[in-house]
Amino acid sequence: MSEAGEGQNSIPTSKVKRAAKIIGTGAKVGGNYIKYYAKKAIHPDLSKDSLHEDNATDIYKSLSEMKGSALKVAQMMSMDNQILPRAYQDKFSLAQYNAPPLSYPLILKTFQQYFNQKPLDLFDTFSKDAVHAASIGQVHKATKDGKNLAVKIQYPGVADSISSDLKMVKPLAAQMMKMKAADLKVYMDEVESKLLEETDYELELRQATEIANDCAPLEGLRFPIYYPEWSNKRIITMDWIEGKMLPEFLKTNPSQEIRNKIGQAMWDFCLFQMKVLRKVHADPHPGNFIVDADNNLCVIDFGCVKEIPSDFFDSYFQLLDPAILNDKVRLLALYRTLDLLRDEDTEAEQKILIATFEEMILLLGKPFRQPSFDFGDDAFFKQIYNMGENIAKDKEIRNMNNARGPKHSIYVMRTMFGIYGLLNQIKAEVKLNYTLD
Ligand SMILES: Nc1ncnc2c1ncn2[C@@H]1O[C@H](COP(=O)(O)OP(=O)(O)O)[C@@H](O)[C@H]1O
Ligand SMILES: [Mg+2]
Repeated sequence: MSEAGEGQNSIPTSKVKRAAKIIGTGAKVGGNYIKYYAKKAIHPDLSKDSLHEDNATDIYKSLSEMKGSALKVAQMMSMDNQILPRAYQDKFSLAQYNAPPLSYPLILKTFQQYFNQKPLDLFDTFSKDAVHAASIGQVHKATKDGKNLAVKIQYPGVADSISSDLKMVKPLAAQMMKMKAADLKVYMDEVESKLLEETDYELELRQATEIANDCAPLEGLRFPIYYPEWSNKRIITMDWIEGKMLPEFLKTNPSQEIRNKIGQAMWDFCLFQMKVLRKVHADPHPGNFIVDADNNLCVIDFGCVKEIPSDFFDSYFQLLDPAILNDKVRLLALYRTLDLLRDEDTEAEQKILIATFEEMILLLGKPFRQPSFDFGDDAFFKQIYNMGENIAKDKEIRNMNNARGPKHSIYVMRTMFGIYGLLNQIKAEVKLNYTLD
C-alpha cells in the first residue's frame, strides 16, 4: 500500500520517452547478465539470485515509472508464481503497492473532464491523497450521506499508450519467456485486447455488477455495490470495503478453520464462474481480495474478466477428466483439437510433447481428481516449480515452435494458477464443489 506523498506530476507519455525507458531496461538487463557472468568467472559458486535481483530491480524501476500497460504486464508476469524466479516475483508484486501517486491537480482535471464537476460537488468528503495506488488507476476515499466510498481514478493517457507500450514490451517479454516474438503474436493480441478492456471503467462496472449478482448465492463471498451515477469511462465509484487485504490478513495468523473458509470461498468463486457463468474474474492478485471482520472474502477489481467460449470450455476442460489419461485415442484427438499437437510436428517431437503434457495433466490436474485438496502442501508447488524448470531447460522443447494451445487458455490458466498460488499462501484445504470436465 502506498500513502500519497509528493505525487508524480507527469508520466512519460511521449512515445520517445517510453521507448527510451524500455530500451534502457533491455540494455541494463543485458548488462546485468554480463556483470553476472563476469563475477561468476571470479566466484564460480555465485548463485543466480543476485542476477535475478539486479534484473528485477532495473525492470521494475523503469516499468513502475511508466505505469500503464507496461506495469500491468509486469504484474501479470509476477502472477506466474512458479514460473518466474523469486526475485522477479517479489519486485513485480510490489507494483500493486508502490506505484508513485498522481498529484491532486491531475485528479481535479480528470474530474472536470469527465463529470464537469469537482470531487466535492459530488461527494461530502474526498481524500486529497490517494489511499491506494495501483497499476492503471489510483483509489481515493470519499463519503456521501454517511456511506464510505472508494473512487478509482485512471491515470490519464493510459488507454492511448497501451498499443505502443506493448510493441516495446513484447520483445522484452519474449526474451524473458524465451520465446520468439512472432510465435507470441496471437497471445499478445489477446493480452492487448484485455488490457484495452481494463481501461474502460464503464465495462468494469457492468462486469462487476453482473458477477456480483450471479455469485450472490455463494457462501462467504462479498462484493462492493457500484454506483453508475458517480462512474464513467475513467472514474469508478463503489462501496469502500473495510477489512484487510489478503497479505495483511495472513500476517494475523488466522486459524486453520478460518483459512479453509476463506480458501473455500475463493475456490468456489473461481470454479462457479468458470462452470456456470462461463466468464471469470481473471486478475487473482492478492490486492484484489479483502477479508472483512466476519471473515468474508470480498472481491474487487473486475477490470479483467475473461469470457470462456463454450467450444473452448467443452474441449479444454476434458483435460481435467480423471479418465482421460487412460483413453489415448480421445486424448490424442483432443490435443489436436486444442492445437497442442500439430501435423507438422515430427514423430520425435510428438513423443516429447505427449510425455510433457501427460506430466502436466497429472500434476496440475491433481486438485480435480480428489474430493478435497490441501493447497498448503508446499511439496505440490515444489513439484510444479521443478516441472516448469525442467520444461524450460529442455533443449528439445525449447527448439520447438513452443507457443501452443488456444489463446483463451492464457487468461484461464492465469486465473487457475493464480488461484492455486493464493490458496497456497492461505494454506487452505478445500473441497471440490464444482468439477469442470
Ligand atoms: N472498494 C474498495 N474498498 C477498499 N479498498 C479498495 C476498494 N477498491 C480498491 N481498493 C484498494 O485499491 C487497490 C487498487 O484497486 P483495484 O481496483 O485493484 O485497481 P487496479 O485495477 O489498478 O488493480 C486495491 O488493491 C485495494 O487495496
Ligand atoms: Mg487490482
